[in-house]
Amino acid sequence: MKLEGKVAIITGAASGIGEATARLFAENGAFVIIADIQDDLGEEVAASIGHHRAIYKRCDITNEEQVEETVKFAVDKYGKLDIMHSNAAINGPQGSILDLDVDEFDNMMAVNCRGSALAVKHAASAMVASKTRGSIICTGSVAATLGGCGPHSYTISKHAVVGLVRSASSELGKYGIRVNCVSPFGVATPMATRNPMHNVDPGRFEAITCAMSNLKGIVLKVNHVAEAALFLASDSSAYISGHNLAVDGGITVVSSIMSSTITTT
Ligand SMILES: NC(=O)c1ccc[n+]([C@@H]2O[C@H](COP(=O)([O-])OP(=O)(O)OC[C@H]3O[C@@H](n4cnc5c(N)ncnc54)[C@H](O)[C@@H]3O)[C@@H](O)[C@H]2O)c1
Repeated sequence: MKLEGKVAIITGAASGIGEATARLFAENGAFVIIADIQDDLGEEVAASIGHHRAIYKRCDITNEEQVEETVKFAVDKYGKLDIMHSNAAINGPQGSILDLDVDEFDNMMAVNCRGSALAVKHAASAMVASKTRGSIICTGSVAATLGGCGPHSYTISKHAVVGLVRSASSELGKYGIRVNCVSPFGVATPMATRNPMHNVDPGRFEAITCAMSNLKGIVLKVNHVAEAALFLASDSSAYISGHNLAVDGGITVVSSIMSSTITTT
């Protein structure tokens, strides 16, 4: 029970990584607010966890009032906010930088970057006001470190999320608030498999990512990412702040082209 009595908001928790994290946080003793825009799914996830541990709150992270209201809701209901996991994001179609669609770019930045900044802003405000030594976690991606593994707008927005984490951690350390990032490689969630460009069977998606991966003999699942978020949320990471924790089997630090050339020569 690593989060006994802690209060957490998880954005994008109606599905995928956020849903798995909500379940794991609740199993570890936290009260979880599932903040999302998919009302039916969000309610279902909260009900299946149990309303004594989880509650759904509609929150479009692009809307500052809704983010502020969601934080206020947590504080009014549970008396404090200990953990903000800013996890909601969108992806978009692959395309050439030569044809960059600025409306699509603005939308991606509004959700992935501005939405994360709003989550950090309002969570940190509540934590500072209540003198809570909280933990803020943003979901990044391998595309927060590498170019070429996602659409341009997505890659730019995820690099910005790491910048947000580093920048916010530089100010919030004096309040005892930690800010970190968790950055997964490909996981077979709806975002990855129901892409605007193509629908991929989850098994096929996993076969493709396994073929590309550096760490063999294991398939990356939502729970591996949730376990990393639990680590960052809990006192197990008490002195870790400003960190980008990659859950990628080493793919962002290993050159597959060079290592395969070296091992075969
Ligand atoms: N699945 C992957 O391969 C992968 C890899 C790296 C990083 N990520 C990141 O993991 C995080 C979770 O994604 P996922 O893979 O679980 O996808 P997902 O589609 O299963 O979940 C994303 C959730 O975010 C919600 N959301 C979207 N826009 C929102 C908004 N404006 N306000 C509130 N909620 C909103 C969606 O309704 C959905 O429930 C994202 O930040 C994503 O970029 C995913």
